[in-house]
Amino acid sequence: MELAARKGLKPRRNRTDTQKLGLTVLLLVVVRVLWLRQNPAPPLRADLSPWKRQAVRVTHIALYGLMLGFPISGIALTVWSGESLEVYSWSLYGLAAPDPKLAAYAATFHNLILPALFYGTIAAHLSAVTKHHFADRRTLDVRRMLR
Ligand code: HEM
Ligand code: HEM
Repeated sequence: MELAARKGLKPRRNRTDTQKLGLTVLLLVVVRVLWLRQNPAPPLRADLSPWKRQAVRVTHIALYGLMLGFPISGIALTVWSGESLEVYSWSLYGLAAPDPKLAAYAATFHNLILPALFYGTIAAHLSAVTKHHFADRRTLDVRRMLR
């Protein structure tokens, strides 16, 4: 039983499956970032203007930040709510003292601020990729992702 329910707080809907998925995202992104430190991405095309290089860099860093920020704030809001953290088959209790105020901040971040930033950043990323692919006709560049 969840700690929140035992204490008579409002129990939440069971979201453990999506939370496991979120933890898997966290794991994969951490592995990817460690991987990138050893094997940096290939350099951008030489003819990109400086502002475009900067925009690409900012967008990619933001995408990594979002992919990390979602699961980290999800863990934070769960733990600060006084609930168990479901890590695959383990239920971890009491990782931090419950703090409803911090839990509410983390929830606003997780449910509202990050999704808003995510839509904006994905829109920027996909517009850039689409323009690059179709308008600039650099149709082979998508394959760089496999190298
Ligand atoms: C890539 C990872 C994740 C994404 C994209 C994500 C996204 C979201 C979104 C969009 C919501 C709002 C849903 C709604 O309004 O009904 C939500 C809620 C929630 N997420 Fe995540 N999440 C992720 C990872 C996690 C993890 C790892 C945990 C906990 C271990 C978690 C715990 C929760 C909880 C408890 C809620 C409900 C919050 C509330 O009741 O206010 N999430 N998540
Ligand atoms: C249809 C969807 C998408 C397409 C076609 C696409 C395409 C691309 C392309 C062509 C690159 C450049 C690779 C290079 O030449 O260096 C790239 C990089 C990247 N994309 Fe996407 N993308 C998509 C969706 C996403 C989503 C949903 C995310 C994140 C949630 C994302 C995150 C990233 C990141 C972080 C990089 C930089 C990778 C690195 O160099 O470390 N992309 N994407």
